[in-house]
Amino acid sequence: MVERVAMISGANRGIGAAIAAHLAERGWRLSLGMRKPQDLTAPPGGPATLVSRHDAEDIASEAAWAGRTVERFGRIDAVIANAGMMIPKTVIEADDGDLDLLFQVNVRSPLRLVKAAWPFLTRSGQGRVVTLVSLSGKRVKSARSGLYATSKFAALAMTHAIRQAGWDLGVRTTAICPGFVATDMAIGLTERAPEDMTQASDIARLVGIVLDLPNTASIAEIPINSTLEEMV
Ligand SMILES: NC(=O)c1ccc[n+]([C@@H]2O[C@H](COP(=O)([O-])OP(=O)(O)OC[C@H]3O[C@@H](n4cnc5c(N)ncnc54)[C@H](OP(=O)(O)O)[C@@H]3O)[C@@H](O)[C@H]2O)c1
Repeated sequence: MVERVAMISGANRGIGAAIAAHLAERGWRLSLGMRKPQDLTAPPGGPATLVSRHDAEDIASEAAWAGRTVERFGRIDAVIANAGMMIPKTVIEADDGDLDLLFQVNVRSPLRLVKAAWPFLTRSGQGRVVTLVSLSGKRVKSARSGLYATSKFAALAMTHAIRQAGWDLGVRTTAICPGFVATDMAIGLTERAPEDMTQASDIARLVGIVLDLPNTASIAEIPINSTLEEMV
């Protein structure tokens, strides 16, 4: 059986690490992107896993990482654009530099990554793109999440735009839109107990399901919440 290859950004910790562990269990070959690959000494999937440098602020690094992936595995079946950041400022407090940084990491880098992998994603007629967006891509919950939400609304639109561009080529794209997930990001933002938040391992299970669904059962967005909100 052909072993499918997934590229996962931000795979060193948090949601990305959970996705990597889950996909390794499910038999995927992994190409993991991170800023400090030298720090990941025991990657999920063992020596078969490729661990590569990827820095979303270095605009050459997505193409370089995709190139190394193809060199090693000869194929790319899925891109999981997970790396992301939050700047907890209101849009009034934030300056142009804050906005540029959030768009570079949360929007432009995922798009560059998908574009670098595109010739390979389209080759099989069953490519998959999953983006880690947020419920902040669907609603603005507070003033301090407003700047982040601005970038995540763009990330959600970009995901739908990739979905439109890839549909006839067999590429199926899904935006994962969680509320608080118990990782460093959320734990630094709220007093809520980690056990009361969505777990990274549950997000990973959803990613595994999405990657396995056939082209005829594609899910465009998955909103996930650990609390009750009016719309989501
Ligand atoms: N946690 C939540 O509540 C939550 C909710 C909704 C959506 N999300 C989204 O889910 C994704 C994963 O978040 P998480 O919860 O796992 O956060 P996290 O624990 O803070 O991890 C963030 C990951 O992104 C990487 N990253 C940040 N800036 C980067 C850059 N310039 N270049 C390359 N990698 C970079 C980090 O790498 P380093 O280790 O090098 O910093 C880390 O691997 C993000 O897109 C986030 O916006 C999170």
